[in-house]
Amino acid sequence: MILNVNLRKSLLTASTNDDAKQAALEGAAEGLVIQAERQINGKGRQGREWNSPVGNLYCSILLRPNCEAIQAGHYSFIAALAVRAALTELLPQANIQLKWPNDVLVHGKKISGILLESAPMHDTKIDWLVIGIGVNCRTHPDNPAYPTSSLKAEGAAMIAADQVLTLLLAQLESWISSYRQHGFGPIRTAWLTYARRGAITARLPDRTYEGEFCDLDPFGRLIIRLADGTEQAIAAADVFFSV
Ligand code: BTN
Repeated sequence: MILNVNLRKSLLTASTNDDAKQAALEGAAEGLVIQAERQINGKGRQGREWNSPVGNLYCSILLRPNCEAIQAGHYSFIAALAVRAALTELLPQANIQLKWPNDVLVHGKKISGILLESAPMHDTKIDWLVIGIGVNCRTHPDNPAYPTSSLKAEGAAMIAADQVLTLLLAQLESWISSYRQHGFGPIRTAWLTYARRGAITARLPDRTYEGEFCDLDPFGRLIIRLADGTEQAIAAADVFFSV
């Protein structure tokens, strides 16, 4: 086994990512999984809130990958593939796609989000990596600007957060193992297989790019083709599809 899973579950916490980070600072080993039934300060990407009522899955997995900081982002694609594979077991007929950098969509609607946090060591490596994952099992936020869904809304027969976590951890084990043996190449290929493609808008803090989804580079950056035919690599942005 790659992940020596040590599950700590609580009814309520501020943020499972914060708990996992605190545990990392106190020396917890790789494989610690923090799960909560509800979060009162659930965190999303770009400083946003992750609404966290009872009934959905909120978990954070602590890794100590001993990798360069530049490679840490690979784990967001690994996590997205693991979530997708777990959800495919529950919704075998559904079209489950991946949206850069790490959203999981079912029929175009967001069902899961992933938040990676890490800390540098004294050199260029990272000391720890926390992968925070939220899966909408019973409910999903109402967001007209960004359609969302849940396992329940999609008609899954099994929607219990604990069972989703069991499937997810098995898939994470398998994708992390593949990555540690074969590197990012197969992860990138698999991710591209399931990537949502089309016309996109990538919103950065200081500018916006409009173009066509094109590729993922070896560092996990999004490559978009702009209207003038040039390609632009993007390391971090909010991405929107124009249908
Ligand atoms: C996003 O799509 O913006 C990322 C959402 C990540 C939410 C999960 S829920 C479990 C973990 N704890 C947090 O506070 N956030 C992540």
